[in-house]
Amino acid sequence: MTIDLGCSFAGLNLRNPILVASGTYGSGLEAAPLADLSRIGGVVTKSVTTKARRGNPAPRIYETNGGMLNSIGLMNPGADGFAAKVLQEFTHLPCARILNIAGESVDDFATLTQRFGAVEGVDALELNVSCPNVSGGLDFGTRPAELTALVRECRGRTQRPLIVKLTPNVTDIVELAQAAVAGGADALSLVNTYQGMAVDWRRKRPELGSPSGMGGLSGPAIKPLALAALWRVRRAVSVPLIGIGGIRNADDVMEFIVCGASAVQLGTANFADPAAPVQVAAALDALCRREGISVLRELVGSLQVPRA
Ligand SMILES: Cc1cc2nc3c(=O)[nH]c(=O)nc-3n(C[C@H](O)[C@H](O)[C@H](O)COP(=O)(O)O)c2cc1C
Repeated sequence: MTIDLGCSFAGLNLRNPILVASGTYGSGLEAAPLADLSRIGGVVTKSVTTKARRGNPAPRIYETNGGMLNSIGLMNPGADGFAAKVLQEFTHLPCARILNIAGESVDDFATLTQRFGAVEGVDALELNVSCPNVSGGLDFGTRPAELTALVRECRGRTQRPLIVKLTPNVTDIVELAQAAVAGGADALSLVNTYQGMAVDWRRKRPELGSPSGMGGLSGPAIKPLALAALWRVRRAVSVPLIGIGGIRNADDVMEFIVCGASAVQLGTANFADPAAPVQVAAALDALCRREGISVLRELVGSLQVPRA
């Protein structure tokens, strides 16, 4: 039986729906010796900002029950450094190449979109409007009108698919999803990390070194929250959705798919094993074979919630 795991949405053609989440590989180049990237759908880069960022003071990672907190603070070489040292090789990765960008102003996002949005080999841009670990990082992702204006500005500067990555740290994620779509988003990815904190009460100090003392929670602990966010957004907008949050195995992937995800991203799982996306892709093929699912995309959004 041939299993078709392929998915095409928003102008992207993926061999399977498994993507690497931003910030959990660098650009994919460093993972290539450990994971055969020709077996996954694609890689999303660490967020690139206009200027280089050193990130937050250490410690920047803290393991929690069922997950981890991070406060990396968007450490990256900046647009010039990325263009000089990484871009060329990144565009030759043997899977879809999605460049994640972040900024503090509309101008930053517009400049980055303009600069990278037509580069041969960059298959899509993902706008990170949702980083909880930098001052101002969440601003766009929490204000609907500003988000619409930001996405509209970027939309006018590239022909490539524009994916907007949403934060769950809002009262109503649906409102933000609708705002991104109103601005011209081709797809939405959700969720980024949940704001969280760990403390050492004896030292009376936060465990993370960020100026706020807080970080972003990811991993299996957030999966039920992420599924609920995706399901709510699925019923409110019609653009394709990319599910993110605590995915570790093929069953997790299926849960996001039936809730309406066209593709998924794995993040924290890569810290336990950088080859996790490759293994999950293989496991997904085996699962479909076992379950008699020949065309995976037919299950997207197939969840039924019985009405009382
Ligand atoms: C160490 C670390 C760094 C991250 N850096 C970024 C980033 O630069 N840009 C971004 O959009 N998301 C970033 N994220 C968020 C992930 O892409 C993802 O949305 C989140 O971790 C939830 O998925 P997971 O539970 O599979 O890890 C980061 C996550 C972690 C754990």
